[in-house]
Amino acid sequence: MYLQRRNRILRNNASIRSLVAETVLTPNDFIAPLFIDEGENISFEIPSMPGYYRRSLDLTIREVEELWDIGIKSILIFVKAKDETKDNTGVEAWNPDGLMQRSIKAIKNAVPGMVIMTDVALDPYSSYGHDGIVKDGEIVNDETVEALVKMSISHAQAGADIVAPSDMMDGRIGAIHEGLEKNGFTKTGIMAYSAKYASCFYGPFRDALDSAPGFGDKKTYQMDYANRIEAIKETLMDIEEGADIVMVKPALAYLDIIREVKNAVDVPVSAYNISGEYAMVKAAAKMGWLNEDKAILETLTAIKRAGADLIATYFAKDAVKLIS
Ligand code: PBG
Repeated sequence: MYLQRRNRILRNNASIRSLVAETVLTPNDFIAPLFIDEGENISFEIPSMPGYYRRSLDLTIREVEELWDIGIKSILIFVKAKDETKDNTGVEAWNPDGLMQRSIKAIKNAVPGMVIMTDVALDPYSSYGHDGIVKDGEIVNDETVEALVKMSISHAQAGADIVAPSDMMDGRIGAIHEGLEKNGFTKTGIMAYSAKYASCFYGPFRDALDSAPGFGDKKTYQMDYANRIEAIKETLMDIEEGADIVMVKPALAYLDIIREVKNAVDVPVSAYNISGEYAMVKAAAKMGWLNEDKAILETLTAIKRAGADLIATYFAKDAVKLIS
């Protein structure tokens, strides 16, 4: 049989496949999310995220050192606020001695090279479990934005490299950018959760921080998963307002959005391989229905192939071990 072209030539063995691979994962691709709790010597395995832990700050620092040693250069930190600090203003979110602020300082001090990204949203601090301030059963936009500005400035003050607003209020990127500029924090960047969808896949994360909404859902601020064009609108507005990095979240059911955003912007794009995506792989692997290591690599490569320059993932450490 005569064939003009034989595509299988480039798939013939592992060496040739590696030579022509278009997408290669490296430790520089990953952002490792970390959940921090008060106390000492505490390591709590999150029931819906087997193999992932919420740790006290002392053990978190050990973990960050380990991440740094294997080549991971950025972390995204979340704290679990004590119930007695929660209210409807979020005031604990900008407490200079709060767990977040203490964590930023301690981690910076222990591992100065690590890029520290911090979650900016009120939900861990909200008695209602919402990302903003609640009035008459609604999440009010402008007052929430004022709170988020104070929160971002306090993270910058503590030494955060990048603040990451995950709340989806309108106008928050511009306001945070202005707040940072006016207060002299000209080296603090913003990674905007620009296209963040209202997703059922956040469930395990809300277990990790005990931050599930007390009433209703997040559909009046997070995006409708039916929408694609809106993702571009949100992202372009965030860039205009001052975002240094934009994010699409979740990742796996949104690979089309990652690609569209990547094609539309001139800033780095990140994607968040979220808690529910982690839980699905873990659950199937536990049942013996999927090979976990292969699922991790295929998933993360697909997210990068879709256009993500950076991937926030609970598999960061596993992935680095698998690729090295
Ligand atoms: C809170 C926040 C959430 C996540 C990151 N920041 C949850 C939510 O919006 O309800 C989800 C991360 C994950 O599921 O892994 N603003």
